[in-house]
Amino acid sequence: MEMPALTKVELATLSLRALYEKNGYQPYRVGGFENYDLYMQNKNFLQSGDIITFTGANGGLMALRPDVTLSIVKSTKAGEERRLYYAADVFRKDNKSGEYREINQMGVEYVGGEGIAAEKEVLCLAAKSLSAIGGARLDLSHMELIEAMLAVFAQPEARAAALDALAKKSPHAMRAAAQSAALDEAETERLVRFTQINGGFDEALQTARSIVAGLPRSRAPQVAQAALDELAQLAEAVKQTGFTAIGLDFSIINDAAYYNGLIFQGFVQSAPRHVLGGGRYDNLMARFGKPQGAVGFALYMDEIMRAEEQAENGGEGGGYLNIALPKGRLGEKVYAMFEKAGLSCAGVLGESRKLVFEDDENRVRYFLVKPTDVDIYVEHGVADIGVVGKDVLLENGSDVLELLDMRLGKCRLAVAAPCGFAEDTAVPLRVATKYPNVARGYFAAMSREVEIIKLHGSMELAPLIGLSDVIVDIVETGSTLKENDMEVTADIAESSARLVANCASWRFKGVTIQNLLAKIREEV
Ligand code: PRP
Repeated sequence: MEMPALTKVELATLSLRALYEKNGYQPYRVGGFENYDLYMQNKNFLQSGDIITFTGANGGLMALRPDVTLSIVKSTKAGEERRLYYAADVFRKDNKSGEYREINQMGVEYVGGEGIAAEKEVLCLAAKSLSAIGGARLDLSHMELIEAMLAVFAQPEARAAALDALAKKSPHAMRAAAQSAALDEAETERLVRFTQINGGFDEALQTARSIVAGLPRSRAPQVAQAALDELAQLAEAVKQTGFTAIGLDFSIINDAAYYNGLIFQGFVQSAPRHVLGGGRYDNLMARFGKPQGAVGFALYMDEIMRAEEQAENGGEGGGYLNIALPKGRLGEKVYAMFEKAGLSCAGVLGESRKLVFEDDENRVRYFLVKPTDVDIYVEHGVADIGVVGKDVLLENGSDVLELLDMRLGKCRLAVAAPCGFAEDTAVPLRVATKYPNVARGYFAAMSREVEIIKLHGSMELAPLIGLSDVIVDIVETGSTLKENDMEVTADIAESSARLVANCASWRFKGVTIQNLLAKIREEV
């Protein structure tokens, strides 16, 4: 009898199962249902708090499982040691599309795994898993080191801004956070350098060590040093398995309420985001009142399959750097800068209606896209880099690295109202805007009830003809407001063009992007 053909994911799943069993890990079998309570109490551990629920026979609220780790932690006895792996479907809401998705996940959890030996064991399994699926990069980070570096931010808001700057690899945002916290010059420069650490493990480790060496005694440098020593030992252990594509990158950050110590992510070519993620989560164990430590990781099998298909269809683009340029005046300015930096491509500035331009010699491909879409292309990895306004980034909330403030297209996002407007706080404020998410977030933070009216242009008209009370829009020179007898009533954020990169492209085309970045930095 002929055996049915297995899909690539099924084959990969089989070889990963064999790998985990060989290393002494037992299968953990889970059904699809779990008590909703478990997720209620640990919402922040999940990427999305939205969960599919139903009422069970006994009247209790049940959930379609969005995660396996929490179930493993719940079912583990205090003090028990378990080496488990699982292959399961989990159900999660995609924050962007709002759709629920069934996600095929494999994972490894070493509960009760203490000390660096446990980390080595799990990390080496992660590296071997990546090798088995054709993975190309494993990046390490460390929560205690991140905590130690950011401990200088006393205020929660400033700390959150610094954390965000680190996650997005934004030196400009880190500088702004440091300045708003009134940190001194040495501290600011140290944090800015920390934000920019990247590249191969050894080189990055050296940079990190030199930064940590500069920490004053009051900043407990020994904690950060110990974390770096630990990372160095871990990287060495991974190298001994034959896996050498290791990086050190502190833009990898997990929630400190759950994770402490080592954290890591794995990448494969053609997948726009990490396909493996994990770390030490003693803090999660502690929340369940269980004293033992734990280390684990999950693999996103659907993403891995999609990446394989992409690669087979030539999706890697033959080593081209794919750039999303905003159509219009900003795009022209940006192109001129890129051209100076050596990425010229005939026809980009021409009159044609073409949207894709390719240059074989410079190995570069430009896409001309709507300015409000640039970061979407980059987030999905079809463009490696792009240039987009901070206003758009704030509105889209896209997950991209924000590498450079290009200081072009400067403007501010603001609330504006007709001159002399007297607000009635007893009723919801009607707000017309192109930026519904920004507007909603701004007024929610002030506990002001609003009715958002989404428009696509000519915002200033809305209050004039009674469609809205105020607008949230960008203000550049202020002349549009003035001519329409309006004024700014509150500033929300400053905006300018930012060079953004896809986080996987940053890993696989890092040298090309770094070179461009260095040249562009000289021009801004
Ligand atoms: C933008 C914005 C304001 C104006 C602000 O409009 O929406 O209307 O520029 O610039 P100013 O402060 O220099 O006057 P845009 O020209 O992009 O057109 P739109 O109204 O169609 O959005």
